[in-house]
Amino acid sequence: MRWRKLSMEKLKFILTLMLIISLSSEAHIVSETKKMTRLHFYLHDVIGGDRPTVWGVAQCNLTDVLPSSFGRVMVLDNLVTSGPDPDSEEVGRMQGTVGQADLHEKALVMLLNLVFTKGEFEGSTLSILGRNPLAAESREVPIVAGTGAFRMATGYIISSTYYNDPARVRNVYEYNAVVYHMDPNVVSLRR
Ligand SMILES: *[C@@H]1O[C@H](CO)[C@@H](O)[C@H](O)[C@H]1NC(C)=O
Repeated sequence: MRWRKLSMEKLKFILTLMLIISLSSEAHIVSETKKMTRLHFYLHDVIGGDRPTVWGVAQCNLTDVLPSSFGRVMVLDNLVTSGPDPDSEEVGRMQGTVGQADLHEKALVMLLNLVFTKGEFEGSTLSILGRNPLAAESREVPIVAGTGAFRMATGYIISSTYYNDPARVRNVYEYNAVVYHMDPNVVSLRR
């Protein structure tokens, strides 16, 4: 029996190691320096008119055949505001690439950066990466990273359609975000 050969000393060492490993994986210090921020904003998806902010850049032979529009890729730079009116206070821009990535239903793969251009978070960014099932009433998309005020961010966004333009010029989406991120003030104080 191999276990018999394990001396008491070795066993103690292993137990201590396991204890250290399990303690160091606890997030006490991290949680002290982490903050939670809730954000509420509106996204203006300008798909028509004379100044669209969403542009189709590629598609495949299936795109026009399938109801899911599979294969369409778009690049966007959308205005983000604090209210549903495009003339309300500017928060930032949502920039990135989205693609129709589902053969059966309309669902997007989203690869987006929200760059804050005004207010207390100006210059900071949030990186969004996930699936957006467009037919769902409320759609959850993960926040995977951030910079500036949102360094080390993780979180999620619940988005819903605020306004669907029958003329297909400007759709408005409501975004509710919960972000866990480093508190830069706490971190610099500790240095
Ligand atoms: C796409 O359609 C074109 C025109 O019908 C055809 O020549 C081409 O082979 C198709 N491509 C694929 C990948 O099926």
